[in-house]
Amino acid sequence: MEKKEMMYEGKAKKVYATDDPALCIVSYKDDATAFNGQKRGTIRGKGVVNNKMSNYLMQRLQAEAGIPTDFVEELSDRDTLLKKVSIVPLEVIVRNIAAGSFSARFGVPEGTQLLCPTLEFCYKNDALGDPMVNNYHIIACGWATPEDLDTITDYTFRINAWLKEFFKGVNVDLVDFKIEFGKTADGTILLADEISPDTCRFWDAVTHEKLDKDRFRRDLGNVEDAYQEMMKRIFGTQE
Ligand code: TMP
Repeated sequence: MEKKEMMYEGKAKKVYATDDPALCIVSYKDDATAFNGQKRGTIRGKGVVNNKMSNYLMQRLQAEAGIPTDFVEELSDRDTLLKKVSIVPLEVIVRNIAAGSFSARFGVPEGTQLLCPTLEFCYKNDALGDPMVNNYHIIACGWATPEDLDTITDYTFRINAWLKEFFKGVNVDLVDFKIEFGKTADGTILLADEISPDTCRFWDAVTHEKLDKDRFRRDLGNVEDAYQEMMKRIFGTQE
């Protein structure tokens, strides 16, 4: 399957049309942004890590947790064939341990174990700074139907349970993460976008060392090393 015209360029990925109107190709870049695009940089090798890690996790979530995804086939280090979906304009955020904006908003210190996983939705709109919204806002504004929101909520907690266990097995605490969902032409909700160090907080389970994009956001150094370390934990020495 070949790339045709570019349909969309985001901060970290480009999406191309293909000859098949039901499929598209995503191409992962090394570009990194933070704080709604105000901070910009490059993380060498990030596109390869995010492509491979995300594809691996999507396939296992589909097979072992029964989560339908948009993944079709990995085409190369950076390119993947996907089912075409229209993205539900929500960032779906799960937190297991307090960190980031949760800690800032509620004054709960980073690293505090939450008593249960939490779920937040943000309306995907850069001009508005992706404001947090609740179920009523989502349904009232038509960003998702009540049925789709139920499906998304059910899938999201199942995804969290599977991912938490998986990362525990490679000695990593899954602190929090952001996922997105898409809808196919026939109305099926699929897990879409990516699951990677760009979109998750990963802390070493013993040392609590940060192994994710917070190293870039917070100027902590060794950003590339953190992405490669996560790759090593997941794929061992095969990659
Ligand atoms: P937050 O603490 O800044 O709200 O981030 C929560 C999680 O969501 C964290 O794992 C990083 C991820 N995230 C994204 O993937 N994209 C974003 O634009 C933001 C703000 C957070």
